Amino acid sequence: MDASAATISQALLDWYDRCARVLPWRSPPGSPPPDPYRVWLSEVMLQQTTTAAVAPYFARFLDRWPTVEALAAADDADVMAAWAGLGYYARARNLLACARAVVARGGEFPQTQAELGELPGLGAYTAAAIAAIAFGQRAVVVDANVERVVARLFAISDPLPAARKAIHARAGALTPAVRPGDFAQAMMDLGATICIPRAPRCSLCPLADSCAGRGAEPERFPVKAARKPRPTRTGRAFWIALDGAVVLVKRPAKGMLGGMRALPDDGWTARGDGQGTPPLGGSWRSGGVVRHTFSHFDLELQLMLYSGGDCFTVPTDGEWWPIDRLDDAGLPSVFAKAARLALA
Ligand code: ADE
Repeated sequence: MDASAATISQALLDWYDRCARVLPWRSPPGSPPPDPYRVWLSEVMLQQTTTAAVAPYFARFLDRWPTVEALAAADDADVMAAWAGLGYYARARNLLACARAVVARGGEFPQTQAELGELPGLGAYTAAAIAAIAFGQRAVVVDANVERVVARLFAISDPLPAARKAIHARAGALTPAVRPGDFAQAMMDLGATICIPRAPRCSLCPLADSCAGRGAEPERFPVKAARKPRPTRTGRAFWIALDGAVVLVKRPAKGMLGGMRALPDDGWTARGDGQGTPPLGGSWRSGGVVRHTFSHFDLELQLMLYSGGDCFTVPTDGEWWPIDRLDDAGLPSVFAKAARLALA
């Protein structure tokens, strides 16, 4: 490592020793690493999700499934329901597959980024984070926070995503052989608390003296290629309630919100045009519109309320669920919103 890189990483570690965020999945700076199970669980939950959103889920999962063996033996439906509200549900399915793969290899997580990357649901970022934080490996950990810090520190003016290679190389040159896990988490903390997207707090930054972006409007970095606008999809969801119970269906295992309980709907996942037929005859009235943002599209879901008529049987993939126990159904956020609207 060259002298300026060593100066930067030391300044960052000194700052981390004083200012590290206290988070439930962490060991304090400079202390032995946490249990790999905790590191893995937290890193999967933290993919595209904030620390504030993850903290209560992390606590509930650990309480209910304190070891990788316990999680591997869990019922799929229980894990999916416990994940409800955290989003990106493929992560929950991969979480289970990964727990089972780890148990199948004797219950120990592998220690290198390369081997970790072969486990279900562990991409390059997550594998690097676990290798560095749980096993002290010198792996290069670059999430969106780190990307911003590095792009500013070196005033990298190529736009993302093309700049990712250069950012990774710069981050690699800064990553120390000692305390790589603390270093990675220090970068994340700097990005989350000081080198924030808007109005960065440069006067508090331990790297300000080395920062090429500081005098050049740091908010410009990372430069982003113009984004296509997010498309809007529309669809309808059906609220069929009788005698204190409502019809819920289990969504197909593959696809959006796969394997989750949900209200019946008209297939908005296939770019529904909102014209799909209700699952029953009878009469219906509008219950309002639910808007929800997914990673690749916005959804406008028209809520249709069953208001009687026609004798019917429940859709074959459905079940009557007691409305006073709806919180236990593990509905993903979009359908939880629709249920709140129906009950309002
Ligand atoms: N985001 C992803 N991993 C994290 C960690 N270990 N600490 C804080 N934020 C994170």
